[in-house]
Amino acid sequence: MRTPIVAGNWKMHCTTSEAVELASAIRDALQGHEGAEVVLCPPFTALESVGRAIQGSPLQLGAQDVHWEEQGAHTGEISAPMLRDLGCRYVIVGHSERRTASHDTDESVNRKAGAVIEAGLRPIVCVGETWEQREQKRTAEVVRGQIEGSLRDLGPGLRETVIAYEPVWAIGTGQTASAEQAQAVHELIRESVAALAGSDVAAALRIQYGGSMKPSNAAELMVQPDVDGGLIGGASLDALSFVSIVRGSLP
Ligand code: PGA
Repeated sequence: MRTPIVAGNWKMHCTTSEAVELASAIRDALQGHEGAEVVLCPPFTALESVGRAIQGSPLQLGAQDVHWEEQGAHTGEISAPMLRDLGCRYVIVGHSERRTASHDTDESVNRKAGAVIEAGLRPIVCVGETWEQREQKRTAEVVRGQIEGSLRDLGPGLRETVIAYEPVWAIGTGQTASAEQAQAVHELIRESVAALAGSDVAAALRIQYGGSMKPSNAAELMVQPDVDGGLIGGASLDALSFVSIVRGSLP
């Protein structure tokens, strides 16, 4: 039985005080909630304050990106040990916005995921096809390639890894993948991981759906056999919406 995992990706939103307010509202509303693991991923600048706000609660802290080196001359970058030091447990790597705008490749995503595991944290590795690739019926090939490239040589750390399937065309567009479309790709991801790391690892692996998930469509997505939670962007900035997605995430 896999524990669902719902993560809020706040992207470049919230000053520190706004982030603390949002985190505190989510923390209070989820008091006593059991079942799903819940992760808040504020911008780097708010990690420490949000970490303090959720201390002692079951909520976990996550970052939105990382550099693969432990330290060094990398102006503007942040390493996995630095994130661990701030209390992070999860790190999103390979989000499509970073694959596009910051030129993340499967190779760099793989190095980042390796660094996150090395630091004792858990990567949330994002994969997903563009609309053009879906129209060309290349979804399976693209996603399989991203899985093989991004998860290569992660060793036993793969057991701690979370995958987020985020069709690029569904992110921030209001256009969600249908439950059938999501389930088909999630199943393919699990098969690809089984080929890489064996069926035990694949069976335990949690695969989130991401892309315009909101309270009105979350339950129907999460009930799919291979959907184990969500990576929520826009709807995670509203405490009520996010909490209602979390509450609907139990199988
Ligand atoms: P969205 O973003 O929920 O706003 O579509 C999801 C994501 O980018 O992680």
